[in-house]
Amino acid sequence: MVSDRLQLISPSATLQLNARVQELAAEGKDVVKFGVGEPDFPTPDYIKEKAIEAIEGNKTTYTPASGIPELRKAVCKKFAEDNGLEYEPSQVLISVGAKHSIYNAFVALVNDGDEVIVPAPYWVSYPEQVKLAGGVPVILQTTEETDFKVTPEMLEDAVSSRTRVIIFNSPSNPTGSVYTPDELAALGAFLAEHGIWAICDDIYEYLVYDGAVHVSLPTAAPEMKPLSVVVNGVSKAYAMTGWRIGYAAGPTDVIKAMGTVQEHATSNATSISQWAALAALEGPKGTVEEMVRAFDERRIYMTERLQNIPGFECTAPKGAFYVFPNVRQLIGQKMDGRTITDADMLAEVLLEEVYVAAVPGSGFGAPENIRFSYATSMDKIEEGMDRIEKLLG
Ligand SMILES: Cc1ncc(COP(=O)(O)O)c(C=O)c1O
Repeated sequence: MVSDRLQLISPSATLQLNARVQELAAEGKDVVKFGVGEPDFPTPDYIKEKAIEAIEGNKTTYTPASGIPELRKAVCKKFAEDNGLEYEPSQVLISVGAKHSIYNAFVALVNDGDEVIVPAPYWVSYPEQVKLAGGVPVILQTTEETDFKVTPEMLEDAVSSRTRVIIFNSPSNPTGSVYTPDELAALGAFLAEHGIWAICDDIYEYLVYDGAVHVSLPTAAPEMKPLSVVVNGVSKAYAMTGWRIGYAAGPTDVIKAMGTVQEHATSNATSISQWAALAALEGPKGTVEEMVRAFDERRIYMTERLQNIPGFECTAPKGAFYVFPNVRQLIGQKMDGRTITDADMLAEVLLEEVYVAAVPGSGFGAPENIRFSYATSMDKIEEGMDRIEKLLG
């Protein structure tokens, strides 16, 4: 029998969907995949070359658990240049993806029974990671009315004497919302006043559109710097999801504690990937810009198509690579002889009837929404939208 703690943990909605998509593909079905959360571009050559050099140069042994000094220094430079945040290398930890960085931060900050505010819609792993760390996720529901953003008034209602941390994600997966500097300053003032820590998941930092600018919480609210762990990584910006490199920066004692957690769980992140990540951070930004331009075109196209399908309601997201329409108008309608009871069922019908894979919002704390990723080719987006239109028309 597994532990009590593990009995509280839900499987990942996105991974479950992928399993069914693979089954259908194995049956020869042509599935249009809008479920994916990774760029469909290859890792740029200049990064791959550095990894090959690392292998050939035998940089294949254990590294310091917190990461190679060269990469930690490059991360400090990145934070200073991109975010105006000054850190020493001792305040930086390299981990096995941003997901791992966030987990390390929860374990380092949360005491048993401490509350962690998780704004909903949320990335599927946040509440489960909080529970794994012994904390209690307090889901703070946001709605389309505030563009799925938290306000200080909402925080006022959500905090208690046990509130320890808020997890903060801008640009957001799944909503694509991006907080403005003023919004961040107001939230930061509230959090600092209440001594609440922020784990800032900035993984979609570079993927912003339509004039939106990513600003990190402690940049907009400097009083939050001593209370913030800023997390980022190379997965989304440099099309490096499989390399598994993320990083975190924050106050020395917390980063040291996160390093201790990691030391006993994984030791260092893969040596070769660390050298590749160094090449990514030090290299030209041209490929990132090209990728963002391609995403932007698809974002506009997919949003327009969805807005024109009766029953799908959404505005254009400003960041990340997802459109997150609500489908509440379709609930109660009959489709292929079945009455749609929720977004989960609609997603199932889309997958089983027209082989279009999108992730139902229930796993993100938004049961009336569906997440469509546009990290796929324009042709596929067109094909998928045509199929949905035909089914619903
Ligand atoms: C919001 C968010 N944070 C973190 C991650 C994980 O990134 P990494 O590949 O660096 O672990 C993802 C990946 O989907 C994500 O969507």
